[in-house]
Amino acid sequence: MRKCYILRRGGIMATKILVIHGPNLALLGEREVAVYGSFTLAEINDALQKLAKQESIELETVQLDGEGEIVEKIGKARKEFSAIVINPGAYTHYSVAIRDAIAAVGVPTIEVHLSNIYAREEFRHKSMIAPVAVGQISGFGTNSYLLGLKAAIDLLKK
Ligand code: DQA
Repeated sequence: MRKCYILRRGGIMATKILVIHGPNLALLGEREVAVYGSFTLAEINDALQKLAKQESIELETVQLDGEGEIVEKIGKARKEFSAIVINPGAYTHYSVAIRDAIAAVGVPTIEVHLSNIYAREEFRHKSMIAPVAVGQISGFGTNSYLLGLKAAIDLLKK
């Protein structure tokens, strides 16, 4: 596979992107299908890997239920990843810890949501993550992830 590289302080590194699926997203396909669609997490990850391969990008996908686990993963991302695509699930709406982790590492981060959080209950209208993200994609189902990954790749190509 032709690999893509970027210049980083201290040398050249392979372009690797991290996708984090937050809490309850392992249940996709069974969980509130009318809201989140019928695709499973494995199917979403397959589609993401396919896009990454087309773009010659290395991709790691991970699903984590715990807020602390997500904070830890973001904290370690600085050395390994050029960008992060994250669906923080319910933590979106109240996690100062995840927001601070993203701000601390300075790795460009794109926030994605399957559902349109602004068309749902009021408590979902607030995102703690949006102010520290490069941008947010919300409401396109599985496509939100693909658009998020595409946005991350385009950012790195700039
Ligand atoms: C979600 C939206 C959140 O409000 C919710 O808590 C989720 C999924 C989405 O992808 O639409 O778990 O992030």
